Amino acid sequence: MITISLEEIHSWERFYRANFINCLSGFKSVSLIGTKSKEGVPNLAVFSNIVHLGADPALVGFINRPKAAAPDTIRNIEDTAVYTINHIHSEMIQQAHQTSARYDSSVNEFDAVGLTMLWRNDCNAPFVTESRIQYSVKLANIIPIPANETWLVIGYIESVYLAKDLREKDGILPLEKYGTVTSLGLSSYYETKHIINLPYAKP
Ligand SMILES: Cc1cc2nc3c(=O)[nH]c(=O)nc-3n(C[C@H](O)[C@H](O)[C@H](O)COP(=O)(O)O)c2cc1C
Repeated sequence: MITISLEEIHSWERFYRANFINCLSGFKSVSLIGTKSKEGVPNLAVFSNIVHLGADPALVGFINRPKAAAPDTIRNIEDTAVYTINHIHSEMIQQAHQTSARYDSSVNEFDAVGLTMLWRNDCNAPFVTESRIQYSVKLANIIPIPANETWLVIGYIESVYLAKDLREKDGILPLEKYGTVTSLGLSSYYETKHIINLPYAKP
């Protein structure tokens, strides 16, 4: 076993350090978050720190970096209180990844990366047509994280859209059958393989 000290971690180049530390918490729930600015400009960005917070009410959270580094999604959510979360499959990874580029707020990132907006009547934020699993989210809270000036954005899950109904009888959504990918660090994407289903554990 090798030991890596905090001192050594501090000495690393920032992207190397970011990738390494990001891997420690595991494979990530990478998805595209769609929003619209109050001026009407659609925005799309890839986020991987997305977390299930509870099923009743159905809540999802994600971590937004400091606003200076990633300003558009969080500002649009503050202004409109609505956003969409869209899964990524292998055939759209390049476009999804490209949304992490720092486009100006005036740029429609769907057009810039070559993904297609989907507007639904009851939602003021764009979905990604190419995504096989899409859901709309209504803002609940934005909680500052003082330790590093990031933000936990919490929202109520509203409508869910599935390209095909592949739900299992216990409610599991077999993401591997939809081709949903997972990510690691800030540059690696993976397909997944199901191993086993186990019953509810009892003491
Ligand atoms: C694989 C991957 C995962 C990312 N995950 C996050 C994340 O969880 N939170 C975040 O703030 N930025 C994340 N980013 C960076 C954003 O995609 C990037 O800052 C983007 O430009 C944000 O744009 P916005 O200003 O349109 O919101 C990630 C980038 C990549 C490539």
